[in-house]
Amino acid sequence: MAGNIRVLIVDDLPETRENVRKLLQFESDIEVIGQAGTGEEAVKMAKEHQPDIILMDINMPGIDGIGASQQITESVPSVQIIIMSVQSDPNYLRRAMMAGARDFLTKPFGGDELVAAIRRVHDKRPTVTAAPARQARQVSSNVPAEPMALPEGNVIAVYSPKGGAGCTTTAINLAVALARRGRRTILVDGSLQFGDVSVMLNMKAMTSIADLSDRGSELDQELISSISQVHRSNLNVLLAPPRPEMADIVTEENIKQLLAVLKESFDFIIVDTTSYLSEKTLSILDQADKIVLIAQQNLSSLKNVSRFFDLAESLEYETQKVWLVVNRAKTKQGKGISVHDVGKALKRPVYGTIPDDEITVTDASNQGVPMVMGEHQKKPISLAIIKIADQIARELMEGKTPMSNNKVEADKPKGLFGRLFSRRESAGG
Ligand SMILES: Nc1ncnc2c1ncn2[C@@H]1O[C@H](COP(=O)(O)OP(=O)(O)O)[C@@H](O)[C@H]1O
Ligand SMILES: [Mg+2]
Repeated sequence: MAGNIRVLIVDDLPETRENVRKLLQFESDIEVIGQAGTGEEAVKMAKEHQPDIILMDINMPGIDGIGASQQITESVPSVQIIIMSVQSDPNYLRRAMMAGARDFLTKPFGGDELVAAIRRVHDKRPTVTAAPARQARQVSSNVPAEPMALPEGNVIAVYSPKGGAGCTTTAINLAVALARRGRRTILVDGSLQFGDVSVMLNMKAMTSIADLSDRGSELDQELISSISQVHRSNLNVLLAPPRPEMADIVTEENIKQLLAVLKESFDFIIVDTTSYLSEKTLSILDQADKIVLIAQQNLSSLKNVSRFFDLAESLEYETQKVWLVVNRAKTKQGKGISVHDVGKALKRPVYGTIPDDEITVTDASNQGVPMVMGEHQKKPISLAIIKIADQIARELMEGKTPMSNNKVEADKPKGLFGRLFSRRESAGG
């Protein structure tokens, strides 16, 4: 059958190979074309038979699975490798990914898990090989030249100190709104473990930010074009890895380089973030030109947002770096906290307000169509986000805000604690 996924099983233990073969024997679209017991044999068979997928054990006598994967990736690039290992620690995963592996199964695994991994990796194969040229064109020429474009783009991180405040919803819709205005815009899912941009935009993580890891100096616009995808709103999207454990292979350094390179090709780089201030999230916030800080009209949100403002001050972010946006704003609050009160309590101007509209938000996310572009684009909630996007574009593109404020210092101490502590030391003597 032409549509068959041709699989080669590599493991030094014959009974493991046999078990894996049995798990696949009733899948009509998967055909096991052979088995290899050593790394050397695997390389030879890969060249000879050009399977679609290789299921590769790591620990084998002779060249191990990682060495074999490296050789196969170089000589038969069409082959997609899935590593099977009892080791699930991130270092192993990182080494395997560096060697060109596309996915990772922890032994023992069941049939469903195995079949799902094979189909997922196989599905992403054509795009990985066909994408670069097409997307490079889309990034560079599909977008009208922007006469007002600043030489460097603006990184806008959407952040909230509390999960569930609406960062992802806001980030996606802001990004789509900017893209639809003809701005060269990319949305980066910085929620690396459980990013949900892909679901909300109905896109598959065939390529993801994890493909950047360990490409170090190679990280350039061409690589980014090949691993980002283009949404039909003309928004470029860099998705989070398809599996949570793959988040670990993306380093803080990768993120730094990524944002620096993106600034060369886009007007706006919108980054969705998670609440937890990990080293990676901090690095995004440091590098951001603006932070859209999402607050809600309740005490717990206000308390956390207020703490974040204190933190921002300790981290020496300029006051204008943080833009306060009230999400799920309720007009009829009764005795509750009004939007005006939010600004007053936090002693900051409210940059924008997004109304509460659960029905529209839920419907848009179920459809996988952002509300600012689908049937809901005329709803007050969508108009509110479009208004914020226009405001952002106007302020940043007209150059009211100097772009050179937020250069990252070279040797910041590690971690939030280290950063704050070292500041106190230098301040207090
Ligand atoms: N303006 C809004 N009106 C109604 N519901 C909203 C609004 N913004 C977000 N939500 C809902 O709140 C929940 C959390 O939103 P999400 O964007 O995922 O937040 P975060 O990324 O900060 O965790 C989701 O169920 C989303 O549908
Ligand atoms: Mg989120």
